[in-house]
Amino acid sequence: MHSEVVGVGIWGMGKAVPDRVLTNEELEKVVDTSDEWIRTRTGISERRIVDEDTATSHLATRAARGALQQAQVRPCDLDMIIVATVTSDMLFPATACLLQDRLGADDAAAFDLGAGCSGFVYGLAAAEGFIKSGSASRVLVVGSEVLSKITDWEDRSTCVLFGDGAAAAVVGPCRPPAGILATYLGADGSGGGVLNMPAGGSLRPASEETLQKRLHYIHMKGREVFKFAVRAMGDSAVEVARRAGIQLQDVDCYIPHQANIRIIESSANRLGIPMEKVYVNIDRYGNTSSASVPIALTEAQREGMVRPGDNVLMVAFGAGLTWAAAIVRWMKESDRIE
Ligand code: UT7
Repeated sequence: MHSEVVGVGIWGMGKAVPDRVLTNEELEKVVDTSDEWIRTRTGISERRIVDEDTATSHLATRAARGALQQAQVRPCDLDMIIVATVTSDMLFPATACLLQDRLGADDAAAFDLGAGCSGFVYGLAAAEGFIKSGSASRVLVVGSEVLSKITDWEDRSTCVLFGDGAAAAVVGPCRPPAGILATYLGADGSGGGVLNMPAGGSLRPASEETLQKRLHYIHMKGREVFKFAVRAMGDSAVEVARRAGIQLQDVDCYIPHQANIRIIESSANRLGIPMEKVYVNIDRYGNTSSASVPIALTEAQREGMVRPGDNVLMVAFGAGLTWAAAIVRWMKESDRIE
């Protein structure tokens, strides 16, 4: 391990989405909605949905294998695994431990992180801290969600929004100026009630009553989250750019949390970032919570929108309420510190 690490960068990325596509037209048959309403109000055309037997840890494992392969890192070389999720396989043990076992990452500490849709960026910041302090060298950060299993398929105001997926990053030491330039994390717990799954925890354990009241599903006050999101996305981007010491016009690629195309466009507009620099895949996947930013980042990198030397801005917001932003100067292989 490195006690004097100066930079921390992303060595490799991988993603996993289920094969099954659920289209807006199919949803028209399930609830009182229309393809036109969903596309114009959210930007979503379709989303991916797992089968009955697939859980968050399974998608996480596939994504992690892809990231390890791209980074050319063996599971046994990982020091830590962080899984950001709101849909852990079980309340405990942590999904990160299930993943550790599947990968055979015997020397890795493992824990889950709950920061709603901001979870992956929170995880990236945590990994940076562990690596810079010298207590870890190679950290796997995963965002993985199976939201379809906590979606109320009778509630049209939420069921059209969400999808399943996962993505992972291998994070390790690198030579500056490459690597994470700055992060910015925040929370406002007073907004916890606008987006939650009310039952199934220690406050309201599963009972006949909680089942009848449909409390084991996502509950959301959409308009309130929307207002918060527009403010949080803009403010977080401005603050992280200030911390990184760069201008927003120096951002080469903007990876926003994919919750609603109107939120994405309004934040890009406020920040003066042209849409050509913004990666958007909400049309294909819907909102995959903590998996949304890393799936978009993986695809942007594979499609050549993120190249070595680029300043990549990631901004997310979500249940908590939480927000998180990071600016990463994308590294090349020779920037790695082994
Ligand atoms: O990852 C973080 C989590 N979530 C978010 O970021 C979500 C943030 N919020 C949003 O994206 C938007 O608020 C929504 C997409 C959830 C809703 O869009 P909106 O423009 O805020 O719609 P609304 O809730 O104000 O509802 C407008 C109308 C209502 O009808 P009335 O009362 O005007 O007659 C709704 O009942 O649209 C109706 N509506 C629908 N109509 C057709 C709500 N959902 C649907 C639907 N299909 N699926």
